[in-house]
Amino acid sequence: MAEQLATNITWHDGDVTPDMRKENMGQQGASLWLTGLSASGKSTVAMALEKLLLSRGKHAYCLDGDNIRHGLNKNLGFSAEDRAENIRRIGEVTKLFADSGMITINSFISPYRVDRDQARAAHDESKIPFFEVFVHCPLEEAEKRDPKGLYKKARAGEIKGFTGIDDPYEAPESPEIVLNTHEQSVEESALALMKMLEDHGIV
Ligand code: ADX
Repeated sequence: MAEQLATNITWHDGDVTPDMRKENMGQQGASLWLTGLSASGKSTVAMALEKLLLSRGKHAYCLDGDNIRHGLNKNLGFSAEDRAENIRRIGEVTKLFADSGMITINSFISPYRVDRDQARAAHDESKIPFFEVFVHCPLEEAEKRDPKGLYKKARAGEIKGFTGIDDPYEAPESPEIVLNTHEQSVEESALALMKMLEDHGIV
């Protein structure tokens, strides 16, 4: 847990309530948290869902590991501490997006259970819906896909601490939903997430 360093700060509540935001946006905000190995299909499914939501007139936005590491989190690497900080920041950012009424779809390897649990706890505390989505794909299949050639480099020892090779991935114990991307098409996965959102009254 990050330490509170700033002092002499005061929380300000505005006059706009969550219900007013919901009415104005025409929807309930929520965070979907897609976790899984590199090349498991997180970003592909996330972007397909974003498109599907927009086609149904919903407000949705993707926060993607590789993209966020070009900007907000460009000063972080892949040590355990940096991955924890990566996930902590995104947990806060997605909570703010969801609080504003956006359906936010996060795709980060987020290999450590404790970091994902903290993101969930922060949402629970603020009564903002949070859905952990395990994007499951066997390591052999992810390695076969290897769209960026990173598994090959990791096997050759050219990348150290690569998730699934010489760095751990802790699978979720009780995710809201599991997608098996080696058996389901991208469209089927996106539709399964849409149904989950419907079942929970988000869309
Ligand atoms: S996380 O572990 O901190 O959640 P994140 O999702 O932001 O990772 O970034 C993962 C992406 O960074 C991978 O899809 C891959 O393209 C790239 N990457 C580079 N080095 C590594 C590494 N050592 N382990 C995992 N992914 C890496």
